[in-house]
Amino acid sequence: MRWLVTGGLGFIGSNFVRLALREYPTLEIVNLDAMTYAGNPANLRDVEVNGRYQFAHGDICDPDAVRDAIGSGVDAIVNFAAETHVDRSILDPEQFLRTDILGTHVLLEAVRERNIPRYLQVSTDEVYGDVAAGESAESDALCPRSPYSASKAGGDLQVLAYHTTFNVPVMITRGSNTYGPYQYPEKLIPLFITNLIDDQTVPVYGDGLQIRDWLHVEDHARGIMHVLEHGDVGNVYNLGGGNPHTNLSITERLVSGCGRAMKTHVRHVADREGHDRRYAVDSTKAHGIGWSPRVAFEDGLHSTIAWYQANEDWWRPLKSGEFLDYYKRQYAHR
Ligand code: DAU
Repeated sequence: MRWLVTGGLGFIGSNFVRLALREYPTLEIVNLDAMTYAGNPANLRDVEVNGRYQFAHGDICDPDAVRDAIGSGVDAIVNFAAETHVDRSILDPEQFLRTDILGTHVLLEAVRERNIPRYLQVSTDEVYGDVAAGESAESDALCPRSPYSASKAGGDLQVLAYHTTFNVPVMITRGSNTYGPYQYPEKLIPLFITNLIDDQTVPVYGDGLQIRDWLHVEDHARGIMHVLEHGDVGNVYNLGGGNPHTNLSITERLVSGCGRAMKTHVRHVADREGHDRRYAVDSTKAHGIGWSPRVAFEDGLHSTIAWYQANEDWWRPLKSGEFLDYYKRQYAHR
């Protein structure tokens, strides 16, 4: 078995590569990654020595790079490559359209041309938009509200259209908010933990009562692998963590977990533009094919804090250069 994983140097992708190589003793993985700011070779340093792993530097928007990475053929493509940070999509939307829509199109064309037996698109619960009450089912209409989620929805619609029109064997997973080791420190959990370790304040947007459903990255990676193996072609599967919490209650846990105090370390700042209040997905369909999350939230959060405390040499270099420019642009005026 040989899979092409795209964006495997990112957060969920790198956790997926590590897990898949461990779970399938004969599996070979080619990882095509553009090495953007979020693609970090250090995420897979331990895997580089594995003879079943091969790295290819390239962009999914480049058909030649995709063709070269496929080489003599692969049994599946799993597409993790994406621009993923909502705040960055508000500052600079264009790259999101390019990677998340055009890049997806290039991969779909390759699947079609080479008759690749499986294509799995890693998507997000954000495509359903703000969910005031209840839970989004896979059949619900998409209602994205940020440039990021609109780009991901555009990718999803292309994937489904290629199935309908060309019978390309696709699947889509829509995961909820993911946390765990190797997450670039711009997202809520790693940003807050690393700020708190450094005795800095953490910026809570608005009232902090927005709700996200948290899924440990290992459960997310396992869910994608499970859908790839057991899912039905042409189908979408929600992968929800089942851990809905307000941002403020996550902040409280992180602040106390890092030995700091809410009064001194939390700053309420101007809200994100168009901020979705709540996401919630119904994962009955994924549960029906045998996937469910295994990591208990309190354990997962605790071990994530411990991982960032123990791996300063991983994240400290990331919080410099480009990151500091972004941080200033994103937070200085708030
Ligand atoms: O729901 C799945 C999505 O989760 C993924 O598709 C996205 O790629 C991923 O970035 C994440 O999107 P969010 O916007 O929910 O994640 P983020 O960590 O940026 O923010 C989580 C919540 O915390 C959100 O309500 C905004 C808030 N927040 C975030 C940051 C970075 C703050 O209050 N302050 C912050 O500084």
